[in-house]
Amino acid sequence: MTFPNPPAELLEVAKIIEIELESCLIEQQLPPHLAEAARYAVMNGGKRVRPALTLLCCEAVGGSRRQAMHAALAVELVHCFSLVHDDLPSIDNDDLRRGKPTLHIKSGEAMAVLAGDLLLPVAFSQLIAEEYTCDQQATLTKLLAKATSDMVIGQVYDTLGGLPEHLEPLEQLEEIHRNKTGALICCSCQMGAVCGNVSSEAYEAISSFGSAIGLMFQIVDDLIDLHGNAALVGKATGKDAEAGKTTYPGTIGVEASKKSVRELQKQADNALQSLNFDTETLASFNLWMAHRTR
Ligand code: IPE
Ligand code: IPE
Ligand code: MG
Ligand code: MG
Ligand code: MG
Repeated sequence: MTFPNPPAELLEVAKIIEIELESCLIEQQLPPHLAEAARYAVMNGGKRVRPALTLLCCEAVGGSRRQAMHAALAVELVHCFSLVHDDLPSIDNDDLRRGKPTLHIKSGEAMAVLAGDLLLPVAFSQLIAEEYTCDQQATLTKLLAKATSDMVIGQVYDTLGGLPEHLEPLEQLEEIHRNKTGALICCSCQMGAVCGNVSSEAYEAISSFGSAIGLMFQIVDDLIDLHGNAALVGKATGKDAEAGKTTYPGTIGVEASKKSVRELQKQADNALQSLNFDTETLASFNLWMAHRTR
């Protein structure tokens, strides 16, 4: 059984997010070549999983999608920055991203580094939107700052090693994945909840949901790298093994990785059960994330 298509609701939400992302970049009034590079890095066919989660988690705690829009833009901008730098020759050295040449191939390495840098302050500036209270602004900023630094820590572990030696190999693997990918995905969910004025109980549930799907997302990414079709995925596949990356299938095998995905999907579903609002969309999103092929 495969579920290649994301739920219709994700596609709908992704369209709205794209319109907002585009206007947010125009508002920056950047010099034309930098504006073009930033636009290329952001408006290029991403699935918009993270910002969609922000909007849907806001809704799942009783808020409106609209309330979470600025936080959603912020998290997607951090993600886009992370992809541009992840693809650089000194990191993963990739030529293809979201079905197009990577930014450093198109505009050169200096512009890729700098346009990636630029997305970071633009991201954080979203969090001081007028519709958020001072408390929300502070909490959102803290959450996104921590998740961004965890992402960088994960990227360092992934690229340069240096993991704590007392950890067992499987713990080391989980540490890389939870940092480089899980943290930002979990933060996407938590920020949505904060925008929806979440109770502390529901915040715990959203955090457990985010933590499970965050790790699950990178295990699925590892599996896609192993078996995926580059034309469909929009990025090179089969590269992790070649580059000697520490991955789930490489460490525990394909079947055990798939089992971990199923367990994490179940964990995430269980976390949703305790929320009082409609979580059907998040549940179908979770199912798709476990089975996605791109
Ligand atoms: C790719 O993320 C990088 C990882 C953290 C695994 P996505 O699979 O969400 O990439 P886009 O945004 O859809 O291109
Ligand atoms: C990327 O992990 C995590 C980031 C922080 C960008 P990967 O290196 O596996 O992501 P892809 O496969 O290039 O999208
Ligand atoms: Mg990488
Ligand atoms: Mg990569
Ligand atoms: Mg990958």
